[in-house]
Amino acid sequence: MLAVSLDGRLAPPAGGAAQLGGAGDRRALEEALAWADAALLGAETLRRHGSTCLIHAPDLLAARGGQGRSAQPTALVLSRSGHIPPGLPFWRQPLQRWWLQPAGRPSEHDQPAHPEPGPRPRMLPGCDRVLAFSSWVQLRSALAAEGLRRLVLLGGADLAGQLLAAEQVDELQLTLCPLLLGGPHSWLPPSLGLRLSHWQLLEQRPLGGDELLLRYLRRPVPVP
Ligand SMILES: NC(=O)c1ccc[n+]([C@@H]2O[C@H](COP(=O)([O-])OP(=O)(O)OC[C@H]3O[C@@H](n4cnc5c(N)ncnc54)[C@H](OP(=O)(O)O)[C@@H]3O)[C@@H](O)[C@H]2O)c1
Repeated sequence: MLAVSLDGRLAPPAGGAAQLGGAGDRRALEEALAWADAALLGAETLRRHGSTCLIHAPDLLAARGGQGRSAQPTALVLSRSGHIPPGLPFWRQPLQRWWLQPAGRPSEHDQPAHPEPGPRPRMLPGCDRVLAFSSWVQLRSALAAEGLRRLVLLGGADLAGQLLAAEQVDELQLTLCPLLLGGPHSWLPPSLGLRLSHWQLLEQRPLGGDELLLRYLRRPVPVP
């Protein structure tokens, strides 16, 4: 789910953290988080924003509590470099933090030695778990095995593009914000090669403040 400008940008021309959505978008975001078991973030989004989105609405928190679920979905951070600055507010947020680490990639956070043969575990200080990442299909199945089936993508464009290219997005939720931003930061990478995909409109909901929520479900490509 993403907040995008009318010209399809998710950040201003200079890049960086943009708060495009207003109060209605915030509520829609928290509702999606309240549904989710886990929220996926690209490391660049985290570095730019410094933290992830939390559910604050008391009714949504109460509903999760009533279902015996944690207050916040687990934050899943995908990073090759493992470089998430230690001073970010993210490290103090009240949630589970898992690092999705590409298999076989070197990291500055490699532990110096491990007595067992085979791949050495690496840990990003502050993360509760490390999960190996080799493909989006493998990741979804590894997360399902951990009980994390409902996933929300919080961005950014790099991750959105990869998930769409891998056909691992079931639903698109976009908040159209009444802004024209220009610049290069389209909500999907311009170089992305996508197979033709069809989407069915599930919902269109004015959010107030001239914002419009659009939800689309992936449809199977019709056989010619
Ligand atoms: N409007 C919105 O709703 C919204 C939402 C989210 C973000 N944003 C904006 O989007 C921008 C950030 O998006 P972005 O596209 O530049 O970056 P991104 O998707 O947030 O993160 C990219 C990073 O994720 C890691 N990564 C990506 N693919 C990987 C893979 N296959 N394996 C391992 N690690 C991988 C890499 O981290 P390392 O470099 O650490 O290796 C990479 O640099 C920011 O300007 C942010 O404000 C807007």
